Amino acid sequence: MTLASFLAETRELVDAALDRFLPSVDDEPCRLHAAMRYSVLGGGKRLRPAIARAACRAAGGTDGDVLPAACALEMLHTYSLIHDDLPALDDDALRRGQPTCHREFDEATAILAGDALQTLAFDVLARHTPRASARTPLVLALAEAAGTRGMVGGEIADLEAEGRTPKKDLVEWIHGRKTAALFRAAACMGGLSAGGGEAVLDALGRYGEALGLAFQIVDDVLDETSDAQTLGKGAGKDRVTGKMSYPAAVGLDASRDRARALAEEAKRAVDDLGAGQRLADLAEFAITRLK
Ligand code: IPE
Ligand code: IPE
Ligand code: MG
Ligand code: MG
Ligand code: MG
Repeated sequence: MTLASFLAETRELVDAALDRFLPSVDDEPCRLHAAMRYSVLGGGKRLRPAIARAACRAAGGTDGDVLPAACALEMLHTYSLIHDDLPALDDDALRRGQPTCHREFDEATAILAGDALQTLAFDVLARHTPRASARTPLVLALAEAAGTRGMVGGEIADLEAEGRTPKKDLVEWIHGRKTAALFRAAACMGGLSAGGGEAVLDALGRYGEALGLAFQIVDDVLDETSDAQTLGKGAGKDRVTGKMSYPAAVGLDASRDRARALAEEAKRAVDDLGAGQRLADLAEFAITRLK
């Protein structure tokens, strides 16, 4: 199966499960549920679920094992996007090719939709993970990746760094937290869902971390080199708002080189795993994508 087919299949599987896990728009509070569904089901590459799925397979598990974790990752990620777009953070109007949650609904609804998606992610993990022994490790992996030492910690550091002189080490520190932490969790949660052992989890963790950093560097490059129509979100804003992006620190060419080196590092980390080729293809996709 080609990577494109694998991604399409992941989307179909995950979107159907997300549709089941998300509360109905007919249930109160209807407007909040509508905002949650609008943001989660409105598009996106579903890359974190795809990584979790490929990692689960590489660790000997099935799609059924990993589906709740894949959905929890996408809910957590979507919450991070809703809040990242808020006026108090990046103040963006376009996301996944449609108005951002706070533009389509209102700011209070967007804040609360993000909150609700975050709690639902943990609810899904605790309630629906088939392998009982994996539940607590999965909850902990996601909590750590999402918390102050992970995504949220990276987001505040990203805001605090705005307007300051870009430094490569600091950008890597920020990107490691705001983005790579959740990619690391995606790979590890795939392995945990399969009941994978320590060696497999270690390899998957190194893979996800390197891929995640490469992914955010490419996100920064695309912000400078692409356009809103292609990306489905605002472009050219990082420079204007004084973001400490990777290209701002080292330039576009060195950013591309670093992303390539990290993708190769990710591939090496999973070289020895059976079914590791899919993970290698996903690492390649992360740095060659156009959106
Ligand atoms: C965007 O993530 C936010 C970053 C971490 C750069 P994605 O590029 O994976 O967004 P979607 O899910 O495809 O919309
Ligand atoms: C955000 O990074 C990463 C998150 C934790 C959401 P960006 O602010 O660069 O993501 P985009 O470019 O808005 O998707
Ligand atoms: Mg941001
Ligand atoms: Mg942003
Ligand atoms: Mg960006």
